[in-house]
Amino acid sequence: MRKKIVAGNWKMNLDYQQGVTLFSEIVNMAKDEVMGDQQVVVCSPFIHLHSIFQMAKGATHVAIGAQNVYFEDAGAYTGEVSAAQVKSAGAAYVILGHSERRAYFHEDDHMLSKKVDAVLKQELTPIFCIGETQEERESDRYFDIIKKQLKNGVFHLPNDAFGHVILAYEPVWAIGTGLTASPEQAQEVHAFIRNEIANQYNAHIAEDTTILYGGSCNPKNAPELFSQTDIDGGLIGGASLKSRDFIDIVKVFNS
Ligand code: 13P
Repeated sequence: MRKKIVAGNWKMNLDYQQGVTLFSEIVNMAKDEVMGDQQVVVCSPFIHLHSIFQMAKGATHVAIGAQNVYFEDAGAYTGEVSAAQVKSAGAAYVILGHSERRAYFHEDDHMLSKKVDAVLKQELTPIFCIGETQEERESDRYFDIIKKQLKNGVFHLPNDAFGHVILAYEPVWAIGTGLTASPEQAQEVHAFIRNEIANQYNAHIAEDTTILYGGSCNPKNAPELFSQTDIDGGLIGGASLKSRDFIDIVKVFNS
């Protein structure tokens, strides 16, 4: 059975104290309100990682993630942070390939495949993001784009390594815009992704892969999105900065 996951991506928001305060609210609410075997992941800026990891100890549902790493192990790479370093601070997950990093920091498929390798080498879980732009959707090229992102970013992995990857479908046109993909649009792409995994690996691995949806997800639209057959949770931006909204999205999976 694949895991149900709701991951928050704080992006470059919150100063140190604000992040610690938000996280303490999330942990407290999760303790009282989250009932089920869903996993909650909070991907904070690097500056919060170690403090919130300490606060998460004993919180069964909650794990910590980073939003990026560099692919080299160590050395003269001023300003970069390695997978080993985020692991030592308590991260268990790392978001990779987010469209904001692809667009603003020119991360291409080749670089991302090396980052995937670096993260897996440290036994961390990559949350690998894929998705098309508005122009690519309107010109009906979205399946080709997603296929290429999968092929170049993660399909080089052998079966056992691929089994540790979480995918996140984030249509670029739905990120931060309030324009959510409809449940049917999201399901169509998630089913396509699962089918591509079955073709590349096998049906069993495809069935076991967690595929998250991201893009203007909120407590109102999450129930219908998460009820789709191939949607296993969400990667949440704006709504993860409000503890009430974030936990309400997590609670969609309460049993
Ligand atoms: P929003 O939820 O703010 O649209 O952001 C989605 C996202 O980019 C998560 O990684």
